[in-house]
Amino acid sequence: LERRKGSQRGTTSRKEADKPNILSGVFDGKTTGAPITIVFENTNIQSKDYNFAKEIPRPGHADFVAMKKFGGFNDYRGGGHFSGRLTVGLVAAGVIAKKIIKPIGTEAYLISVGGSKDIEKVVNKAVEEGDSVGGLIECKISNVPIGLGEPFFNSIESLISHIVFSIPGIKGIEFGAGFKSAEMQGSVHNDLVVDADGKTSTNNAGGINGGITNGNEILFRAAVKPTSSISKVQKTVNIKTGELSELSVKGRHDACIALRVPVILEAASAIVLADLLLIEQKIPKVMR
Ligand SMILES: Cc1cc2nc3c(=O)[nH]c(=O)nc-3n(C[C@H](O)[C@H](O)[C@H](O)COP(=O)(O)O)c2cc1C
Repeated sequence: LERRKGSQRGTTSRKEADKPNILSGVFDGKTTGAPITIVFENTNIQSKDYNFAKEIPRPGHADFVAMKKFGGFNDYRGGGHFSGRLTVGLVAAGVIAKKIIKPIGTEAYLISVGGSKDIEKVVNKAVEEGDSVGGLIECKISNVPIGLGEPFFNSIESLISHIVFSIPGIKGIEFGAGFKSAEMQGSVHNDLVVDADGKTSTNNAGGINGGITNGNEILFRAAVKPTSSISKVQKTVNIKTGELSELSVKGRHDACIALRVPVILEAASAIVLADLLLIEQKIPKVMR
């Protein structure tokens, strides 16, 4: 939860305690088997920052579609339904999932921002220009048993992609060699099996064949778009008057969402792995 907050330049100046209040499912420091309910309160709100969003949708954000879909009744304050704040719940569930899936481990890190490895420089430039910037994150899942994931609909790529695309601002995902696979030959792309446990010399498949884990590390990368709320002036439309308008978004926005997303990807993948272990009945029962 601390990692999701973000403290470096390019993350929101809005500081939240993010203190989990566990309402059910835990007693005497142990889970009881009842559903675990964890509530986080918003304690640092400035709704007036969003007054414009009643009439003037931010280019790139969900304001326009939310107005249309919910007939103007959408809660536009703080982005409402579409706020990155909702990922606090995902991370909280991920904390529990990570405990369940041990010794499977998930680790995600930012590999580039704006196409560059000089993350600080590129983020600083975006902040100074009142702009924003996207980023690429890699996630590795280690100690994965062979056989998790189902053929066809519930392939492990499908399940991971499903939850990863729930994270606001994610625009792409690739497994193993991913989009580069389209440029490769079979003799290069094929991962050669080097032992009877299925270990391979390369990992172009990202640890997955036929939607099923092959025992190698699961590897995927996710593309995070640049934040749509920027102070640079952009053209948009006033939905009430129908007139073209301009918008400079003030408020406490992340200039680079990607800085905060690695821990969210770890949580999302741990949740998928926990579900799959449950299906395979591979979660050890811990008795008092
Ligand atoms: C941790 C996190 C923080 C975010 N912070 C912001 C923000 O400060 N300003 C903003 O416009 N969007 C922010 N977003 C992204 C929006 O929530 C997202 O772009 C919006 O809901 C539209 O969804 P889409 O980008 O998936 O189409 C954030 C997303 C995440 C995951």
